[in-house]
Amino acid sequence: MARAEHRRLRRGDRLVIATHNAGKLSEIADLLAPFDLVLVSAGELGLPEPAETGSSFAENATLKALAAARGAGLPALADDSGIGFAALKGAPGVHTADWAVLPDGSRDFGVAMALARARLGEAADKRAWFTCCLALAWPDGVVETFEGRVDGQWTWPPRGARGFGYDPMFVPDGERETFGEMEPARKHAISHRARAFALLSARLRQGGA
Ligand code: IMP
Repeated sequence: MARAEHRRLRRGDRLVIATHNAGKLSEIADLLAPFDLVLVSAGELGLPEPAETGSSFAENATLKALAAARGAGLPALADDSGIGFAALKGAPGVHTADWAVLPDGSRDFGVAMALARARLGEAADKRAWFTCCLALAWPDGVVETFEGRVDGQWTWPPRGARGFGYDPMFVPDGERETFGEMEPARKHAISHRARAFALLSARLRQGGA
């Protein structure tokens, strides 16, 4: 039986980044820079995007990473992430990206944020959080997952043109700026993705990358 802890990624190894989202791809490339891996995107390889049918971030990250690893015959890393609002009992959660889909199939996160705002109404509970689950998969089916979360509050109107997705309406705890206003380096230090990456990085260091 293949075991995750025996898997290694070494400097110069190729790693497929199983995302078609340019915003995520550039954040992931920044976070993985210290490992000197050769990153190839699933888009570049023409790999199809599997349907995200899981009911948790971990299930969706796993199915995306496994599909890419099997399709490319290389190790693959996928991320599944989203925002949750306490007043909406954690919604949209795994459906975060769906809230941005327009009738023509394109995505607009201004629309998604307005939808969230409308559903939140006058709720007094402003708590919100981003979650990120990373899955590292190998072509033979071995998978490991790493989950990170950042807590904060939602704000309206949205502020800032940096970042992507719901960044302009999220203020992390202990900060004044939204993720959309913040220096990217600051976001990368405290974000849900950074926390999941810290766990992955510890694993890569232990595994030899
Ligand atoms: P998925 O992981 O591709 O299903 O998409 C999750 C969605 O969550 C993204 O399209 C973004 O809208 C949102 N999201 C995930 N991470 C972030 C973030 O760091 N900032 C803002 N929005 C995010």
